[in-house]
Amino acid sequence: MGKTITILIIFLFSIVAFSQNYKSGDDALGIFKYENFEKPEACGSSCHIDFYQQWLQMMMSQCYTHHWDEIEYFKLAVPHSEKDSKVAGVKAGCNGCHSPVAFMAGDVPPPKPIMNSRANESVSCDVCHTISGFSGTVPFNYNYISNPGKIKYGNRSDIVSPYHQIKKNELLNKGDFCGVCHNEKSPYDVWVKATQIEWKEGPYYKEGVQCQTCHMPRSEGYNALMGIFHTDVSQHLFHGAHDPGKVKGTVEVRIHPDIREAEPGEQVKFTVLLFNAKTGHKFPTGSAEERMLWLHVEAIDSKGNIYHLKVDRKGFKGEEFTIASDTLAYQDMAIPLGLSNFKGIQRDGIPIGDRIFRMPYLDPQGRMTIMQWNTASFGPDYRIGPRETKLETYTWIIPDNIELGIVKIRAILNYQKLPTPVTEFLGVPLEESEIIEVNRHETIITILD
Ligand code: HEC
Ligand code: HEC
Ligand code: HEC
Ligand code: HEC
Repeated sequence: MGKTITILIIFLFSIVAFSQNYKSGDDALGIFKYENFEKPEACGSSCHIDFYQQWLQMMMSQCYTHHWDEIEYFKLAVPHSEKDSKVAGVKAGCNGCHSPVAFMAGDVPPPKPIMNSRANESVSCDVCHTISGFSGTVPFNYNYISNPGKIKYGNRSDIVSPYHQIKKNELLNKGDFCGVCHNEKSPYDVWVKATQIEWKEGPYYKEGVQCQTCHMPRSEGYNALMGIFHTDVSQHLFHGAHDPGKVKGTVEVRIHPDIREAEPGEQVKFTVLLFNAKTGHKFPTGSAEERMLWLHVEAIDSKGNIYHLKVDRKGFKGEEFTIASDTLAYQDMAIPLGLSNFKGIQRDGIPIGDRIFRMPYLDPQGRMTIMQWNTASFGPDYRIGPRETKLETYTWIIPDNIELGIVKIRAILNYQKLPTPVTEFLGVPLEESEIIEVNRHETIITILD
């Protein structure tokens, strides 16, 4: 009798131990409990101290708690999902990427960040290190397959841990891994995030440069306190748009005139070259619905008077979205906010006439939106691709009252994560609209009598 029970217990244990999960995406809603996943502190308090400290500083430890994420989810996405059946799925779905453990625990919507629940763990160590694969051929919309337990998937096979088993999973070394959350399709079936797809179509993928190469740079050291020395430990920095140091210098800027000397009333044409030297995907990428990269050109005469130059039009379809103007936009926020007669708010909030490198996201009525889940189509994709060089020209008629002598022409490339008018309207902390100078260059011409 005792023997039978023992065998039965071993049998049941092996079912539990070896039962594999194959569910992913929306099918994985509620298939686990919070307790199935380890807390990041468990990984980081005595073994992976360094990685834990790095994780605390990356955006992925904050994708549920970060102020703008909280505002967009609770003020816009949740109420919208309750008013429009087309987007009903986002109430749960946002957290398939922003708080995967809450999603897999079926906690919809999870308690607000102030409640300090486990949803706050966002993308934790155990989220990434229990991913065994993804379903289908294209990674997108949280189609990762999660198998929490004693096995942790990693990039090495020749090491042991006193605490858990380690299994090498090639997927973790590849950019496709990141695509499970960094590619997103809206309920209208369009790609509202395509960082992994952009990378795969660009030059870096062909050369074997992965997302990890640039966002998890390798250096010598230890991957755990009691581990062995390695020459190539993958650092957990994941620095991106929220790290000005990563953004600065991404695009190189050079400006030159067609003639060096001119008289008042004469025309000079300046050409600006913008070379994307640093990103492995387009710039901006990811949350492109709210990112702006813009080129501001101004002339300064010898008395210090400043003249703003406006970009020459190229004449492509939808170009008006790529030149700053005082147009109103984002009218679809009226639905979740319950506003009637809402005319919208300023679209850009930057100097009129500046060239903007962006891709406008359009709602089902064709108006520009920052609610990526409400995107049905796009305007022109005028972002700068990896290693692409864009040319912009500025034709300037020299004003009659200008000071004679040397005139400096300055080209400044600025970057902003969220347009200031949106930040102010929704009460997002202003730091989210910080303007980061990516690069600048200057040239001179001489004004003769
Ligand atoms: C389980 C989902 C998930 C996976 C897997 C994932 N990410 Fe993320 N990542 C996110 C979310 C959500 C954010 C948004 C953070 C926020 O709210 O700003 C993010 C943010 C980032 C950022 C910061 C962007 C910024 O604004 O500064 C970088 C860089 C990044 N991820 C790189 C990667 C790379 C590289 C990989 C693959 C090795 C990866 N991520 C895998 C979900 C994921
Ligand atoms: C967004 C997903 C993600 C998160 C979050 C994450 N990791 Fe990783 N981790 C990876 C990837 C991907 C690799 C493999 C990198 C490579 O192939 O270069 C890795 C590698 C590792 C390694 C092996 C490094 C080496 O080179 O030997 C350890 C150890 C590790 N992670 C621990 C942690 C711990 C602890 C945490 C939490 C504090 C954590 N990871 C959070 C994705 C993640
Ligand atoms: C050749 C280096 C390189 C490669 C490869 C690369 N990135 Fe980046 N990434 C950058 C740089 C530089 C930035 C900062 C500029 C910016 O925000 O685009 C960045 C920014 C980001 C951001 C923040 C974008 C935003 O606007 O919030 C995310 C997210 C990101 N990368 C994810 C990825 C993922 C996922 C992959 C692979 C599919 C990848 N990166 C491949 C260099 C790289
Ligand atoms: C398929 C995965 C995925 C889904 C689903 C998803 N997000 Fe994200 N979200 C991301 C990633 C990845 C980033 C970081 C992108 C970047 O910085 O390039 C991000 C960034 C954000 C940001 C920060 C943008 C910033 O300026 O830094 C907000 C806010 C946000 N998401 C809200 C939402 C809301 C609300 C939903 C649901 C309607 C949602 N997300 C659904 C993956 C996802």
